Amino acid sequence: MVTIVTDGAGYGWKGKEGATADHHGADDIIPRDIRFGIVDKPTRHWFAGDIVKTALADGLSIFLPEGERFFIRSLKHYATQLDDRELAEEINGYAVQEAYHTREHEDYNRAMAALGYDVKAMEGPVASALGLTKKPLQRLAVTCAIEHLTATLSTVTLRHPEMFDGAEPHYRRLWMWHALEEIEHKAVALDVLKKATANMSGWQRYLLRVIAMNATIVPFLLIFLRNTHLYAKTDGVKPGFRFWMRFLWVVFVSPGFWRRCIPLLLRYYLPGFDPRNSDDAALVMKGREWIAREMPAAGATA
Ligand SMILES: [Fe+2]
Ligand SMILES: [Fe+2]
Repeated sequence: MVTIVTDGAGYGWKGKEGATADHHGADDIIPRDIRFGIVDKPTRHWFAGDIVKTALADGLSIFLPEGERFFIRSLKHYATQLDDRELAEEINGYAVQEAYHTREHEDYNRAMAALGYDVKAMEGPVASALGLTKKPLQRLAVTCAIEHLTATLSTVTLRHPEMFDGAEPHYRRLWMWHALEEIEHKAVALDVLKKATANMSGWQRYLLRVIAMNATIVPFLLIFLRNTHLYAKTDGVKPGFRFWMRFLWVVFVSPGFWRRCIPLLLRYYLPGFDPRNSDDAALVMKGREWIAREMPAAGATA
C-alpha cells in the first residue's frame, strides 16, 4: 500500500520534525516543495571545479523539464481510465513530485543560460525526440524506460553521496532531493503499464518494455554526447581526444558514474523485472535522513 503525503502534517516541507524517516513507510510518495535557489546563484563548474563532472550533471538537467512534463502527461492520461483508485492516487503523488522537479530544473537550466550555455539548442532535440511518440501506450512505455534510467542514476547517487564531494551545496542538495523522490516513485509508471496492458501476454508486455528502452537509450546517449560537445565549446575547452578521454575516465573509472549504473540498468532486460522486487527501504530512509539534516541547516525550506 502506497501512501501519498502532501500536507504539512507529514512533510510539505515543514522541516526537521516532519522529516524524520520513521514517520513514513519506505514506499510512501512524499512530494517536497523545496526551492534550491540555483537561479539566484548560478555557478560555473559547480561540481568540484571540474568541467566534465559538471557537464555530466548539467547535461542531465537539460532533459528534465521537457521530460518530466512528458511523463506527467503520459501517466495522467491513464489516471481516470483504469478505474483503480489507489493507482490514480499514486499517479497523483508522482505528478506532484515531478511538477516540483520540473520547476526546479527550469530554474537550473535558466541558471545555465545565464552562464552563457545555449540551453535552447541543447533542449531542442529532447523535445523533438519525445515528440516522435504519438500513441498513449508508446508514451507510457517510454516513460517506464526513462523512469528506470532515473531510478538507476538515483540509486547510485544515494548509495555514493561522497561522489558529490567538493560540489556546491545548493546543487548537491537539489540532486540528492531529486534522487530520493525518483526512488520513492520508481514503480509508478510500471504499475500503470501493467494495468494498461492487462490484456497482453507477459511476452508482449516484455517486448513493449525492451523495445521502448532501446528506442529511448540510443537517442538519449546521442543527444547527451552532442550537448556535452556544445557545453565544452562554450567553456572554451576543445572537445577533442583529451577531453573525451577524461570524460570516459570520469564515467567509467573514477568516480565511474555510468560503470556503477550499468548492472542496475541491465535489470530492465530481465523478463520478470519489477522495481518492487528490489528493496530500497534502507536507501530511501538514508535519503530522507540526509535531506532532514541538510535542508533545515541550509534554511532552504519552502
Ligand atoms: Fe523527477
Ligand atoms: Fe521520475
